[in-house]
Amino acid sequence: MINLKNILNKGELDREDIITLLSSESSEDLGLLKSKAYEILKEYCGIKVWLRGLIEFSNICVNDCYYCGIRKSNKSLNRYLLSKEEIINTALWCAEKGFGSIVLQSGERNDKNFVDFVSSVVSEIKKMTISDKLPEGLGITLCIGEQDYNSYKKLFEAGAHRYLLRIETSNEKLFREIHPPEQSFQRRVECLKMLKDIGFQTGTGVMIGLPNQTIEDLADDILFFKSIDIDMIGMGPYIIHKDTPMANSESLMKNENYKEHNYLLSLKMIATARIFLKDVNIASTTALQAIKPFGREAGLSFGANVIMPLITPEIYRKEYQLYEGKPCIEDLAEDCYDCSVQRIKSIDREVGFDEWGDSMHFISKNSKAD
Ligand code: 5AD
Repeated sequence: MINLKNILNKGELDREDIITLLSSESSEDLGLLKSKAYEILKEYCGIKVWLRGLIEFSNICVNDCYYCGIRKSNKSLNRYLLSKEEIINTALWCAEKGFGSIVLQSGERNDKNFVDFVSSVVSEIKKMTISDKLPEGLGITLCIGEQDYNSYKKLFEAGAHRYLLRIETSNEKLFREIHPPEQSFQRRVECLKMLKDIGFQTGTGVMIGLPNQTIEDLADDILFFKSIDIDMIGMGPYIIHKDTPMANSESLMKNENYKEHNYLLSLKMIATARIFLKDVNIASTTALQAIKPFGREAGLSFGANVIMPLITPEIYRKEYQLYEGKPCIEDLAEDCYDCSVQRIKSIDREVGFDEWGDSMHFISKNSKAD
């Protein structure tokens, strides 16, 4: 029998080891996985949890991903775009509260107006949030999809310094199954390379528990993160959204149990990614809490170190549902802030107030290059 302890004590893990870790089932093995992930987190990143105020500033999207609730063909939601003032005021509120960083997330648009709009919002926020607490202003992460090189560059020059672009799955065949033909895996990899090239701290991630996705695929996802030398990871369980093509094609997954399964698999992915990649930032994503009330705390306990409290103005929250059961849609930003801080403290972790909380991986890579 394979002994999990032996694998966890090895220096370098190989693909087989990763598969074994992801296949852990007994509570004893899960306990070992969790404590090893925590040990590595403490050693390489410290135990602080970084807050990123998440502002979902628009649900308008040109893409038609088969899994996503805000895909362009979904006519059952009201499309919105926050005004510049609304976004800036929300960001100012975050800075005031001690969030060192925000994430500006939206559906994808590639037109010039959009890119110009986001650039000007970013540079304004940077200017307006410089203070004694934040000498370089709020840290800004963007999550606005695939763009061309010049747009990425413009956004970087405007002052955004991190970018999240999920690969969704590193299995190209599976990628094709969950996206329309206009979207390509290769293009997404190219975008990730451009982002790194420009100097962004770059994050990617996958959905966990997709139909036809195997444990081997997930192990390959972790190897993919390493091969492109990623700085940050945001990944979470796949959850059906009723107004998407994938909701209809999956009779098997209508079973409520799939959620429990995807939830546990996500915690194992977080722990294994932490053990294998060591010094990257890993987010404990909202989708975990959509399945279990304390899902985000669990993600932190399994090695994540970033949490993204929802700061989107309340009236827009219900229009930004990528999957079903999104938590906190009735709450106010203040509630999400208080609740996140409480939750972090409840598991004996410290909140990193007024700091950017950059990825240690990115920091050490760059200090080596100097
Ligand atoms: N379940 C889980 N995650 C989803 N996302 C989109 N739709 C779903 C879903 N049904 C994730 C994708 C995307 C991110 C913004 O949200 O990974 O990149």
